[in-house]
Amino acid sequence: MSVLELRGVSAGYGAAAVVRDLDLSVAAGEVVTLLGPNGAGKTTTLKTAVGLLPARSGEVTVLGRPVGRRVDRNARAGLVLVPDSRALFPGLTVRENLWLAARRGGPGWASALDRLPRLAPLVDRRVALLSGGEQQMLALAKALLAQPRVLLVDELSMGLSPVAVQELLPIVRSLADDLSVAVLLVEQHVDLALGIADRGLVLHHGRVVLEGAAADLLADREAVHRAYFGGTDAAHA
Ligand SMILES: Nc1ncnc2c1ncn2[C@@H]1O[C@H](COP(=O)(O)OP(=O)(O)OP(=O)(O)O)[C@@H](O)[C@H]1O
Ligand SMILES: [Mg+2]
Repeated sequence: MSVLELRGVSAGYGAAAVVRDLDLSVAAGEVVTLLGPNGAGKTTTLKTAVGLLPARSGEVTVLGRPVGRRVDRNARAGLVLVPDSRALFPGLTVRENLWLAARRGGPGWASALDRLPRLAPLVDRRVALLSGGEQQMLALAKALLAQPRVLLVDELSMGLSPVAVQELLPIVRSLADDLSVAVLLVEQHVDLALGIADRGLVLHHGRVVLEGAAADLLADREAVHRAYFGGTDAAHA
């Protein structure tokens, strides 16, 4: 059963529609990766899914309930975005960032380190002094404290080396496998993203031009490449 569902969603800024008639669903324990060139509408899709941006038409639901505009309320319902900006406090330590993210009544801040043990020796370091990969681990740790049912991850790998991405993406996979989180992952590293995903979609100018099982897309990189340039393909349902 899908946890996150977008049906016929259009969204944008001002007069222009950026995302058009988008259908997308993510089941519990599933990782779906949203691919596409710069400006295709990937971040806009995530913002709409999390309630930061209203859908102009269509519907976004989590576990069958419509997603409203109250992002804090949506977060309490388990809908959590890891934005591409990372949204950390650079002047504070790792521990302080986790304190601030921990919810009253939720698991303690230190529980976030269970899945991200590389952060443990860094808890007293200021975030500004962390590497990009370590900062992304902290962003994931913060998201985990919100006990997500649906995790939307926007370019975890922004500015990171492929080695750092190879360390981070399996952690994302494990959240789906071990905690049954529904993950929607936006990535520029196509092969690495498809390598941990169950399914993939390619957006171009706000429309899905290709979608399929991750293994099928990995096996037909040529189709993925064409989709980046707007070409549709027989694999598109
Ligand atoms: N706040 C905004 N106001 C107006 N236009 C915007 C705004 N944010 C994004 N856009 C435009 O919407 C389009 C889609 O942007 P979006 O950020 O969703 O793309 P993206 O697929 O995430 O790209 P990237 O890979 O570069 O992050 C772009 O043309 C962008 O210029
Ligand atoms: Mg983006």
